[in-house]
Amino acid sequence: MKISITDKKPEDVKSDLFVVPVADGGEAGGAVRELSSGMRNAVAARVKTVGYKAAAGKSLSVQTADGDVLLVGVGADDTELDAEKLRRAAATGRAAARGVKAKAVTLCAGAGAKASRNVAPMLEGFILASYRFTKYRSNDDDGYDGPKTLTVAGSGLVTGAQAKAEVEHTTTITDSVCFARDLVNEMSTVKTPSFLARTARGITRGTTIKCEVWQGERLEREKMNGILAVSAGSDEPGAFIRMIYKPKRRTKAKVAIVGKGITFDSGGLSLKPAKFMEWMKQDMAGAAAVLGVMKAVAALEPDVEVRGYIASAENMTGGGAQKPGDVITYRNGTTAEVLNTDAEGRLVLGDALCVASEDKPDCIIDLATLTGACLVALGPRIAGILGNDPELVDSIIKHGKGVGEAYWELPLAEEYEDHIRSSTADIQNVGAGSAGTITAALFLQHFVTDTKWAHLDIAGPGFHEKGFPYTPRGGTGFGIRTLLSYLESF
Ligand code: BES
Ligand code: ZN
Ligand code: ZN
Repeated sequence: MKISITDKKPEDVKSDLFVVPVADGGEAGGAVRELSSGMRNAVAARVKTVGYKAAAGKSLSVQTADGDVLLVGVGADDTELDAEKLRRAAATGRAAARGVKAKAVTLCAGAGAKASRNVAPMLEGFILASYRFTKYRSNDDDGYDGPKTLTVAGSGLVTGAQAKAEVEHTTTITDSVCFARDLVNEMSTVKTPSFLARTARGITRGTTIKCEVWQGERLEREKMNGILAVSAGSDEPGAFIRMIYKPKRRTKAKVAIVGKGITFDSGGLSLKPAKFMEWMKQDMAGAAAVLGVMKAVAALEPDVEVRGYIASAENMTGGGAQKPGDVITYRNGTTAEVLNTDAEGRLVLGDALCVASEDKPDCIIDLATLTGACLVALGPRIAGILGNDPELVDSIIKHGKGVGEAYWELPLAEEYEDHIRSSTADIQNVGAGSAGTITAALFLQHFVTDTKWAHLDIAGPGFHEKGFPYTPRGGTGFGIRTLLSYLESF
């Protein structure tokens, strides 16, 4: 797909489909006005006949002699359109493009200087909505592979080098999101911990990012006993991955991001019921997000040191598997009794959070498909967020809002610390049955020393059984755009 930005009016761009955001009762930055008079007349007639009223998400398709026009409602009549509405409008445009197998699509960004800020979200929504995982499909549904050309048009749009940079910036981000989606959608038998390690090496090769992988004996020497305990039931060796990006010019902060990389979660000896195991290839979505962020960071070169950590293992039931009642002694001296082998994410993250803390960053952000409880509480669209620093938590929520990724804060309530106190060891890996997301975070907190920390529980939004406008079913790449927005804000 060839992507370009032009300051021509859409009417001067040859296209099979024109996607036009329309505010309630308004003309969305003049996008409708930029259509040819022929198109405008056809649109006006059709709007009148069917009594179309633009409301967020409501669309109307109009066939005209110069190509199809798709009006998409983006809500309140406001010249400053909400970026998320534009992403969704463009995604609706992508679905319409499939319907008519459009070869050339124009996204109408509106007129005037302000329209330039509509460009990135529209491109982002359109590209992310184009994603499909087809690797294992023997015949592609309808043979439609998306438009050959995608143009964002509007008089007054910034063009030239700046436009080129904008397209590149957006596609760097969308590429890394789709890359992470591919990893999450890949089958577990392929994407073992060693595969994730090779993938980390692959994305850092030829960049300034350093990549280190600990496996086997090295894990033992480093006392990465959480990863080793979970891997004990699997034929696949576990892995710990550390990637370090250092800015060339100035370093304004040092941020650590940590991902849960359970490449398959059978539950271990505390075996999951079949229904709950169906989608457990998703249990490395946190690791996929870390890989996606590092891949984009290599290209975006933010002024922050970014350290990516992945704790990876396959949670299986082999003869060597850890057993309920076993105790793990961690690198930082903490001992943890494993009462339920299905609460394995916190066990491997314990190791990674120890190492991340030892590296003394300004803050640590971890992403993990950690608890079913979080999915129950917040559903598939909203991640849980818990942390020890309100400013960091608020900042992530704010950047999430900007990119259309929702977070809801849950309390890191010390009232429940006694739920994870063990009679045998310092702590135990399950709580008392209630507040599962909070007790999981409290467990993690034992491995964070003297560092600002936020924990993102992405068990809901990391993977969708049913698709949404620009997150088709399967892996979503959730968290990557939030973190990149955060990292680029320094
Ligand atoms: N990987 C699961 C959590 C999960 C559930 C992620 C559904 C995505 C969708 C995690 O390892 C797990 O099994 N957690 C248990 C913890 C319990 C045993 C304390 C859970 O949530 O049931
Ligand atoms: Zn589990
Ligand atoms: Zn898990």
